Amino acid sequence: MRKPIFAGNWKMYKNPKESVEYLDQFLPMLEGHEASEILLFPTATSLSTVMDRIQGTVVRAGAQTMHWRNEGPYTGQTSPTMLTSIGTTHVLLGHSERRLYANETYEHVNLKLKAAIAHKLVPVLCLGEMLADRNDGYTKDTLLAQMGAALSNLTASAVRNLVIAYEPVWAVGTGSIATPEVANEAHGMIRDELRDLFGNNLADSIRILYGGSVRPENSAKMLEQPEIDGLLIGGASLDPKSFAAIIHNS
Ligand code: PGA
Repeated sequence: MRKPIFAGNWKMYKNPKESVEYLDQFLPMLEGHEASEILLFPTATSLSTVMDRIQGTVVRAGAQTMHWRNEGPYTGQTSPTMLTSIGTTHVLLGHSERRLYANETYEHVNLKLKAAIAHKLVPVLCLGEMLADRNDGYTKDTLLAQMGAALSNLTASAVRNLVIAYEPVWAVGTGSIATPEVANEAHGMIRDELRDLFGNNLADSIRILYGGSVRPENSAKMLEQPEIDGLLIGGASLDPKSFAAIIHNS
C-alpha cells in the first residue's frame, strides 16, 4: 500500500505573514487527518515561519529547490544543511520551471538528488515532457532520459524514500490537465523504469504524484487511477479551502 501524498507548491507566492494566515485557516481543516501525507513547499523566505507553525501538526514542509553544496560562494543559493537546520524534511527537485527558467540541467538535478539523500531530505523529483515531445511521440524517451540522468549512480537503498512527480510541462499552470488515462500511462512508464533500475520492491513502494492543473473538481478522477499515488498542486494549493477540498474529495 502506497500512502497518498498531497503536496502544495506555492511557487513565488505568499510572504511569511500570508503563510501564517493561510495556515491559520488550513490546519484546522486537517485536524486528525491520517489518510494521506500533506506537504507544503513555500518560498524560501516563508519556509522557516511555516516550519515553526506546522510543528505538532500532520503537515510537513520542504524547499522548492536547493544547491548541492553545504556552503560556498554561490550567491542566491540555499544549501541542504541550511534547510535541515530549520527542520525541513522535504525538497522539490527538477521542477519544470527551474529547468526552464533557472537553467537547471539533468546533471544539476542528479547532484541535488544525491545531496538531498546524503542529508536525509526526502526528494520530490519532478519529471515531465514538453508538448512538442508528446506530439512527436517522445514522451517515454524524455521521461526515461530525465530519470536516467537524475538517478544515475544511486542505489536502491539510497532512493528508498524518493517521491516522483510526473508533471507534463504542457499541463503545469495552463489549466489543461492531462486526462486520467494519459497520466496513468506515463506513471506506468516511470514505474516500469523504476522496476528495471531498482527491482520490484522499490518500484512498488515509490509514490508517483501527478501534477499540472489539478483542481478540486478534477482531483478525485486522477486518484482513481492505479498508478497515481497523490498530487502535486500549484495554483489550487494557494487557497487553503481549495487545497483542503482536494485532500478531502480524494
Ligand atoms: P499547477 O502547478 O497546479 O498550477 O498547474 C503544478 C506545479 O507546478 O507543481
